Parts: sequence; C-alpha cells; structure tokens
Amino acid sequence: MPIPESFLDALTERCDIADVVSQYVQLTKKGGNLFGLCPFHNEKTPSFSVSPDKQIYHCFGCGKGGGVVNFIMEIENLSFPEAVKFLADRVGMTVPEDGQDQELPRLRKRMLELNKEAARWFHAQLSQPAGEKAAAYLQKRQISRKTAVNFGLGCAPDSWDSLLKAMAEKGFGWEELVRAGLATRGKQPGSAYDKFRDRLMFPVLDVRGEVLGFSGRALADGQEPKYLNSPETLVFSKRRILYGIHRAKNTKRGSMLLVEGNIDVVTLHQAGFDNAVASMGTALTTEQTRLISRYAKEIVLCYDNDPAGHKATERALDILKDSEFSVKVLKLPDRMVDGAAVKIDADDFIKLHGPEAFEQLLKGSGGGMEYRLLELTTRYDFSDDGQRVEYLKAACELIAGLGSPVEREVWARRAAEPAGVTGEAVIREAERLRKKRLSGEKKQYERSSSRPASQAQPQEKTLRYENIVSARAEEGILRLLLQDPGLIKSCPLPEEEFSSPFLRGLYASLRRRQAEGLSVNPSALLTSLSEGEAAQLTQILQTQVAPGSAGEALADCLRVVHTEYVKRSGDLAAIAELMKNKR
Ligand code: CTP
Ligand code: MN
Repeated sequence: MPIPESFLDALTERCDIADVVSQYVQLTKKGGNLFGLCPFHNEKTPSFSVSPDKQIYHCFGCGKGGGVVNFIMEIENLSFPEAVKFLADRVGMTVPEDGQDQELPRLRKRMLELNKEAARWFHAQLSQPAGEKAAAYLQKRQISRKTAVNFGLGCAPDSWDSLLKAMAEKGFGWEELVRAGLATRGKQPGSAYDKFRDRLMFPVLDVRGEVLGFSGRALADGQEPKYLNSPETLVFSKRRILYGIHRAKNTKRGSMLLVEGNIDVVTLHQAGFDNAVASMGTALTTEQTRLISRYAKEIVLCYDNDPAGHKATERALDILKDSEFSVKVLKLPDRMVDGAAVKIDADDFIKLHGPEAFEQLLKGSGGGMEYRLLELTTRYDFSDDGQRVEYLKAACELIAGLGSPVEREVWARRAAEPAGVTGEAVIREAERLRKKRLSGEKKQYERSSSRPASQAQPQEKTLRYENIVSARAEEGILRLLLQDPGLIKSCPLPEEEFSSPFLRGLYASLRRRQAEGLSVNPSALLTSLSEGEAAQLTQILQTQVAPGSAGEALADCLRVVHTEYVKRSGDLAAIAELMKNKR
C-alpha cells in the first residue's frame, strides 16, 4: 500500500519549501519569490527560484522543478518513500507503517550490510594463503600494509564460489549477492558464481563510510578486463560517487585532486596527498562536483597526460565552466626513455620522482585557460607560417569566449608571444570574433522566442504535446484551477476532452482530490509526479497569467479545448455546429 495521500498533504503543509531549500541554497528575496544559485547545475547568476506562495521551486536555467518532496529526492538522491521519511523525521511526524513503504530502504540496508561483510572478507583474504598473490602485487606497486588497511583493500581469490560460501555463512543468499553485483547468475536455474575472481579489490565507500560497491583490478598482465567494477545497483551509482572520498573529505588542503584511477588515489594518499579522489575511469559529472563542493572550493584536475586524459580534462573544464570552483590543471610531464617520450600517470610520477616533486607540480599548476593554451602550442609547428596562423585562429577562438575584457587582454598577450606577433593584433582579432559570436547568439534567441510552438513543448520527450493549441489551453485551465481552487467544482469540462494524457491526469487528480476533501494546491499534486513531470508542471505554474478575470480566462481556455476536441472527433455535424456558432 502506498503512503496515504492525507499523510503526504499533512507533511507538505508542515515542510515549508523555503525553509527546506534554504538548508541547501542561499536564497535572496526578489519580488514575491526567492532566488539562489541552482544546486542542480553549475551557474554564476541565480536562476533557481522558490515560490513560497505556490510552495514550488523552479530553475529557469536547467528546467528542474517540483515541490518539497521532489526537491529532497533530487538533492539527497533518495527514493520517494525515503524522501518522505526524511522530511517526516525533520518535522517529527511518523510515516504510517506498512510493508511496501519500508521495502526499498530495507533492501538497501541489507545490501550495505552484505557489501560491508564482503569487504571485510576480501580484506581478510590478504593475510590468507589464497591472498598471497594479491599481497605480493601490493608490494610490487609499493602499497604499504597501512595504506591497504586505510583503504580496506582486499583480494578476491581465484575461485568460483568462495565469496558465495563465506557470505552464506553470514546468512546472505545467492540472490542477494547477485542483486548486489557480487555474483553472477549461472546457466543452471538457481545457480550463481563469484563475479570478482583473482583480483585486487578496492571497496568503494561513500562519505559516511558505507561500502557502496567494488572495483577489482586484474592481478595478472593480460587478464581482461583490467578493471571490473560493480554494476549499478540499489546503492552503487558510478556517476554519483568518487573513489577515495571517504578519506579525502577530511583533507586540510582546501582542494580536491581529481585523478583517473584507483591506484593513483591510493598512491597519492600514501605520499601525503590526502585530497585525491578518482571518478573511476569516467568523465566528471555534475553530481560529483556537487559532492566535492561540500568539502573544497578548489579542484585540481590531474588526469593522465595522454589523449584520453586530455579529453577528460576538456570535459571536466567544460562541466566546471560556470561553477563556483577555482579550477586548476596539473600537467604531468612525459617520461623520457631513450630519447622517446612515454606517458605516465600520477602513480608513476610519485614513484619516479617522489612526493616533493609532485608538490612542486601542484604548486605550479595553472588555470584552465593556461592549460588550454599550452595544449594548443604543443599542436603546432611555429616555424611554419601557415601553422602559426592556424594556431592564432584557434587561440582567438578560446580567448573570445572569456567574459572579462581584462582576461581577454592578458591571455591575448600570452597567446601572441610564442607565435611572434603583437598582443594588439590578437586582442583585435579576439574582440572581433567575440562581437560576431554575441550577435549570432542574439539572433538565435530572437528566432527561438518567435517560435512559441517549439518552446511550448515539455523538455521531457514522453510528455510531448500532440495538439499544441489545445495543450496550451489545457495548461491554462490547470494554472487557473490551481490558483483558484474554488473554480474546480464548477468546471464543466469532461476529462476526455483533454488532448494531453499527462495534463488530463493532473486534471482528473485535481477533481478527485477536491471530491475527497484532500488538498488541491500545487505541492500536493507535485508530490506524486516523476522528475520530468514535476519540472513540466512547475514550468506551467511559473508562466505569467494574462491580466483579467480568472473566470473569463477559464471560459476562453474551455472553449479552445472543446473546439479542438470536436475537430479531432471527426463528427461532421458537431463541427458544422461549431462553425455556425462562430459566425
Ligand atoms: N577503469 C575501468 N575499467 C577498465 C579500465 C579502467 O573502470 N577496463 C577505470 C578504473 O577505475 C581505473 C581507471 O579507470 O582505476 C584508470 O584506468 P587506468 O589508467 O588504465 O588504470 P590505473 O588506475 O592507472 O591502474 P594501473 O596503474 O594499475 O594500471
Ligand atoms: Mn596507473
């Protein structure tokens, strides 16, 4: 049984959205609304609004929106029942007990227990005969016993069922291991085998120290894949976590060092860089930057100095473009072997040159622009005139994107130097490019705002309107009814005349709520909606209403919806009737 609607109504009434949101976002009053920096995307000027009247939030930048429950689900990464429980705890209410509500949190808790037991067992194997190979490997990679303990490193023995057996003894069934991504279902029904075999195990912990999943490194050269990670599970989501955060969160360095791999993290911590975290081989996500922002104001990107690493750096710089972070890029030098450059990662560097040298690299790391210009200079041959021109063009493209004229001037001079031209020439070219770009953007905006039909479509594809004219009027009806619930009772429109299933559902739910004596405000409706639906409804509610009486506006909308409905019905007599009335 789902959580009773009456309970949800009572809960949302007690949880003022402005109070709840301001625990996460600094809000300032502007007109009737509160504004702040959107916690769901990176921005420098506030486009995230909270309406205390309507009890909703809406971001004009990324389009996210909803009521207080949607907000908590999104920001705390909780399921619906969990978010309800979270808010209920906050205001001292108790969610009515019943099996299903507790199912998901119970499963998660159980999975976390299993993961913890598995991590303990993997770790214990390091001092067993079955773990000799892994222990030797750690030694080879110069990872000390103490570091192995700090990171809870372990070993998955070369066996098909030793973890399954060990966990069975602790009371965990094979299905539970499969669900947690620790075992794989076998061909025979009811059979399973250990997923991680003959691997060095890195438990992946969150900031609270819960074991969310695992990453396992091959112990033998050529064993594929080199790294095997837990699949996405109820508790493990790669885009939301950073390897090493459980220790890096305590750093006093004030920055976070972002590296590519698990071994890099472990080695760096061992060498005294206790702020290292890794995004486990994937590009940086906004969820991860949000996580970092709780602990540091500066991010130092330290990806491998190879094409893949450069790409990852570019993507990270892009994600961090409008963020509050100060961003730096640490460039690892190549290693020269017999006159040839060999790419190395942070782990290699520490082992080759020691922590002192790494500290120097860290100190010398520059900002994103410096990195990009430097990257650019390595790609062109400056003794060739044609290539110099190409280089300058590319540099001007970069410089034109900078928001401040002072920055543009400084970087233009820097860019000019290696190409042997004057700073002024580069400044002029960059300014010209910038003007061209701005006017292009303006034209595009004008074009898009004169095309209302495309703008009126919901962001979420599954909600797309088939009949824009009708849908707009349907939106108007909902807006008016939510604004003035007294109109709901007398609204004569039958549900089937709605063209959009989504809007029809909202209308039906409003009428039912009204009949059942439940609350009919936006937050009550929003609570049961998915992320995309909630965003669309808040968008509808944020649209300005034309001045005039609500009753008249409603009558206009009803007429449009009815006309469109009759047209769709194909009933010729009814259409003829409509035409006659029009005249
Ligand atoms: N990775 C992965 N799957 C792979 C390869 C890599 O998930 N098949 C992730 C791992 O999290 C790994 C990171 O990408 O730590 C970086 O990969 P790589 O640079 O190849 O590994 P290193 O961490 O440098 O490990 P090592 O030094 O042991 O080679
Ligand atoms: Mn490596």
